[in-house]
Amino acid sequence: EPSAEERRFAEIIEADSRIEPRDWMPEAYRKTLIRQISQHAHSEIIGMQPESNWITRAPSLKRKAILIAKVQDEAGHGLYLYSAAQTLGIGREEMNEQLLAGKARYSSIFNYHTPSWADMGAIGWLVDGAAICNQVPLCRASYGPYGRAMVRICKEESFHQRQGFEILLELMQGTPAQREMAQDSVNRWYWPSLMMFGPPDDESPNSAQSMAWKIKRFSNDELRQRFVGMLVPQAEALGVTLPDPELKWNEEKQAYDMSEIDWTEFQEVLAGRGPANAERMRRRREAHEDGAWVREAAAAYARTQAERKAV
Ligand code: 3HC
Repeated sequence: EPSAEERRFAEIIEADSRIEPRDWMPEAYRKTLIRQISQHAHSEIIGMQPESNWITRAPSLKRKAILIAKVQDEAGHGLYLYSAAQTLGIGREEMNEQLLAGKARYSSIFNYHTPSWADMGAIGWLVDGAAICNQVPLCRASYGPYGRAMVRICKEESFHQRQGFEILLELMQGTPAQREMAQDSVNRWYWPSLMMFGPPDDESPNSAQSMAWKIKRFSNDELRQRFVGMLVPQAEALGVTLPDPELKWNEEKQAYDMSEIDWTEFQEVLAGRGPANAERMRRRREAHEDGAWVREAAAAYARTQAERKAV
């Protein structure tokens, strides 16, 4: 016989309403939210690295300013999401330790290198495009702080995607070498951006429960399909080809048929054996060390402030 709390929780979920930090929630609900939100936050923080690689080499002041703003936004998204996770009872330091120890997941997509400027376009258009597809439904996640964090983040992501599209458009309207650079970048980022949505539905252990609790609103494959459907006309507008010879509209399915995704690559990246996993973690640990003095100074300042108030 469910308890009054369990019935209350079920009613709130059923009514498509919000669970707030002070509400009773099943421990497994709290646990899966800490898992997903902390991983989402780690993704934003690690996600700053591929793009910051080009801040000092952007081709114009305008591009440099936009890239700095975007990377700064990603940092803010990370802090926003760590705060949302903290409302569930996990500390910021604990989450950070998990990441630094290599025990925490972050999005597979950030374990690829960015060898050319065109990657700044492909990341904005494809990676932020995929992130938007995944994050818009999360605005309606049943856990209040997570859904509300997503609203703010999605607004900034649409700017991220548009500036990426614009970079590629400018390159595609440029010299043959620039067109070649843009197409090469799309070829390298297309499949990894499809993997961002997670494993196929029949190999997604968290989906059923996450959808029952209205954290996940659409399945991994549904969002992947929606994303590809969005990309095709945009690729035509850009003049780039999506690197999938089997990509074809299926009238009956009302969706695109596509080649099989290379899930061994996905599993390799998740196992820490992607092209840039080691580099991303090394850089994160270095940045944490380099930032120690700032944390100590801030803590010392806070202590003197508190002492001053106490007298
Ligand atoms: N990268 C790394 N791990 C992934 C992954 C990916 N792309 N896709 C799935 N996984 C992991 C899951 O975390 C899970 O492992 P866990 O149980 O140890 O956490 C396992 O693979 C099985 O996947 P499931 O489908 O069962 O897991 P979920 O139900 O959690 O679905 C998800 C995966 C769709 C990524 C979901 O967690 C989610 O929507 N997360 C929030 C969105 C997010 O993290 N986005 C990051 C995008 S990058 C970003 O936002 C930055 C942008 O601004 C550029």
